[in-house]
Amino acid sequence: MRLGGKRALVTGGSDGIGLAIAEAFLREGADVLIVGRDGKKLDAARKQLGDNVDTLSADLSASAGIDAVVEHARRGPPVDILVNNAGVAFLVPFETVSEDQFQQSFALNVTAVFFLTQRLLPHLAPGAASVINISSYFAHKMIPKRPSSLYSLSKGALNSLTKSLAFELGPRGIRVNAIAPGTVDTAMRRRSIENLPEAAQAELKAYVERSYPLGRIGWTSDLAGIAVYLASDEAA
Ligand SMILES: NC(=O)c1ccc[n+]([C@@H]2O[C@H](COP(=O)([O-])OP(=O)(O)OC[C@H]3O[C@@H](n4cnc5c(N)ncnc54)[C@H](OP(=O)(O)O)[C@@H]3O)[C@@H](O)[C@H]2O)c1
Repeated sequence: MRLGGKRALVTGGSDGIGLAIAEAFLREGADVLIVGRDGKKLDAARKQLGDNVDTLSADLSASAGIDAVVEHARRGPPVDILVNNAGVAFLVPFETVSEDQFQQSFALNVTAVFFLTQRLLPHLAPGAASVINISSYFAHKMIPKRPSSLYSLSKGALNSLTKSLAFELGPRGIRVNAIAPGTVDTAMRRRSIENLPEAAQAELKAYVERSYPLGRIGWTSDLAGIAVYLASDEAA
């Protein structure tokens, strides 16, 4: 068990990539708290993960939600692993991005990561904690006909935050890393293509098959191994 005795908090752990990471952490012996908004999704995740998982419903795009998570986490032992995974993607043309979409993206993809990590700092395990931010390849790689100005901007900001925190928190023994997945088959991905015309969906599929080394998009389970590694003492 590579994470035995460790306590992990996974935001957005009720679905997609976060759920796969939570599942792998539990398998490796960690105590896991998952956070999402929708109680039904959290219940479904608990059914899948087992009663050992702790769940909390909170909206991290609002400061009250961040407060609720911090308060809940502080009631237990120190947190060894924080996975800032919850995120939102509006892959819409630059000229149509609304101020509301802009605020939502930054509130969840950047502000929540910043302040959740800051406010949990006193409760992170001294000397060996690991913070893992889930970024995206869209921070640095664009895809033809996939307008990503807002999403790329928010994930680029997350990458900068990750690098600067690695330097600021490293001397305290807190590691900060990011994982930047390519396209992964999740509800987020399906939402982002469902409104594309059929021809555009086919074109995207062909592009992926051409440009991804394995000729397929990622599965959520593909992300579990790297997350377990970064969370474990092997990555010290
Ligand atoms: N899928 C991809 O192709 C891909 C590629 C690269 C990077 N990523 C990144 O990977 C991360 C996870 O994406 P995913 O595809 O797994 O998404 P997903 O399947 O849509 O799952 C998102 C998770 O986050 C939770 N969540 C969403 N908004 C929240 C909020 N305001 N407060 C608290 N929890 C919230 C959701 O639960 P509720 O809806 O119940 O709140 C759910 O548990 C994101 O940061 C995304 O940018 C995804």
